[in-house]
Amino acid sequence: MTLAIDARGLVKRFEGKTAVNGVDLAVPEGMIYGVLGPNGAGKTTSLRMILGIIDPDEGTRTVLGNPRPLEVAHAIGYLPEERGLYQSMAVREMIAFMGALRGLPLDQGRRRADKLLTEYDLGDVGRKQIRTLSKGMAQTVQLLGTLVHDPKLIVLDEPFSGLDAINQGRLETLIRARRDAGATILFSTHVIAHAERLCSEISIIAGGKVRYAGSVDAARDRLPSRVVLRTRAKEGAWRADLPPDTTPVDGNWHFALPSTGIESVLQALITHGAGIENLTVERPGLHDAFIAIAGADAEAAMNMASAGDMA
Ligand SMILES: Nc1ncnc2c1ncn2[C@@H]1O[C@H](COP(=O)(O)OP(=O)(O)OP(=O)(O)O)[C@@H](O)[C@H]1O
Ligand SMILES: [Mg+2]
Repeated sequence: MTLAIDARGLVKRFEGKTAVNGVDLAVPEGMIYGVLGPNGAGKTTSLRMILGIIDPDEGTRTVLGNPRPLEVAHAIGYLPEERGLYQSMAVREMIAFMGALRGLPLDQGRRRADKLLTEYDLGDVGRKQIRTLSKGMAQTVQLLGTLVHDPKLIVLDEPFSGLDAINQGRLETLIRARRDAGATILFSTHVIAHAERLCSEISIIAGGKVRYAGSVDAARDRLPSRVVLRTRAKEGAWRADLPPDTTPVDGNWHFALPSTGIESVLQALITHGAGIENLTVERPGLHDAFIAIAGADAEAAMNMASAGDMA
């Protein structure tokens, strides 16, 4: 397996405060990889070190096989967290200009800009000035400018924030299409649902450290499935047959799936006259796994950060 990004032991301090405290990040080529974490976790600082925009105080990073990321900048597309475009430029020129900054000749950039805009159903905005666009539309134009030189590695810092639900869905489609065409995509997000839908692998960062790295599935498997059970009888001696962690919620019994399975619980309940009216066993989502891994404080911060963003 070739790694598009192999960062090890990244450390960054600002004015004596440690923002990133020994982050490793291994992103296999051809994968959609998500970095999750609350505000101030160190996501942006980590991405900026990986891209060579800032140098780490400690640690190394190899990007597309090169330990000096700026030398492979032409093969990288980067959507920074702070968006910004030249207001008086026309959309098509802006996209071509962004390609030129990454080494793509301007005339080719203009042709590709037209193609990208048409593919994204924005064929009619190419001649408009950036200042006339809505915020979400300007962000989409910036994204297309990030992709115009056909980068092998695409790094997107909070790409979904500021987009409405329709444009979030279109961005998900675009990210998958780039992956299918062979690119590697690394993005950061507060919104767990995007990572859950898109990523084969994720890292959860909190307090400048990686708390989890691996597949979304393995993160979910860290928690037991949840059982929601409705008994026909509402009270009785059979209550003792339910696992000790059982809580009543809206007339249902909630508990973690016992490691021995559900059968023995059901058998005892039936034998002792509880009756079974309804039963569901739900695998935990990434959201619950995130809380367990990053802690409740991190979850509260995530909720605050994503207020206003849509899932
Ligand atoms: N240039 C800087 N100077 C001083 N402190 C900084 C600088 N950049 C980041 N920090 C601090 O480093 C920590 C990590 O910030 P960073 O922007 O990497 O977090 P983040 O995970 O991207 O957060 P967010 O979700 O809000 O974007 C924060 O405490 C932040 O205040
Ligand atoms: Mg950030």
